[in-house]
Amino acid sequence: MEKPRSVVPAPIRAVLFDAYGTLFDVYSVGLLAEQLFPGRGPALSVLWRDKQIEYTHLVTTSNGGAHYQPFWDLTRAALRYACKRLALDLSVESEQQLMNQYRHLSAFPENKEVLQSLKARGIVTGILSNGDPAMLTVAIKSAGLDGLLDHVISVDALHKYKTHPDAYALGLQATGFEARQIAFVSCNSWDALAATWFGYQTLWVNRYQLPFEELGTSPVFTGSNLRDVLSLPGLGLLP
Ligand code: LAC
Repeated sequence: MEKPRSVVPAPIRAVLFDAYGTLFDVYSVGLLAEQLFPGRGPALSVLWRDKQIEYTHLVTTSNGGAHYQPFWDLTRAALRYACKRLALDLSVESEQQLMNQYRHLSAFPENKEVLQSLKARGIVTGILSNGDPAMLTVAIKSAGLDGLLDHVISVDALHKYKTHPDAYALGLQATGFEARQIAFVSCNSWDALAATWFGYQTLWVNRYQLPFEELGTSPVFTGSNLRDVLSLPGLGLLP
């Protein structure tokens, strides 16, 4: 893990994880996409994801949230858009298959032991996600993470997606801790950036060796997989 900027770490009491892209592999749908649309699977899974996130920002920032739709619905809309954009003929059956696959995304293999280890150290654990509660429940169960998460926080209760600060504030309300006492972990650079602006001790897990956002703020910590959570300096500072 890279060294943080000049940060005096506060003791970390809780670790909150982003879900899609961080605990669950959103690009694992690429395999099925490739079977359905040979040669176009990777392009479809990337455009699908990018459009899904774009839609979350669009509905959060327009007309005071009047156009909010749950993440599941935005995911379906993004799939339809991505297929049209790539000139792929999305049958009702293919759409159902891809959406079903999205419901049961593969989990990254190190997730479970990291969560178990955090629990063993007495750290409060949770998810803070754009996913709606039904999606998160199925994904957590499929990944065998039941019982390892103290909080499953969905922005759906608020009808505002990340990166709205109110969405990040849900983590404080759920845990009762201050932002600097909470490590927020995300593989999504935009999420890690906004969570840093919000005040969390962020760990950006750069799984794909990507550049960070060029907006003048760095995440507090950068790692390469979820195991780096266990080396966060503030974790050792519990009384
Ligand atoms: C989430 C999306 C942003 O789980 O990945 O919140």
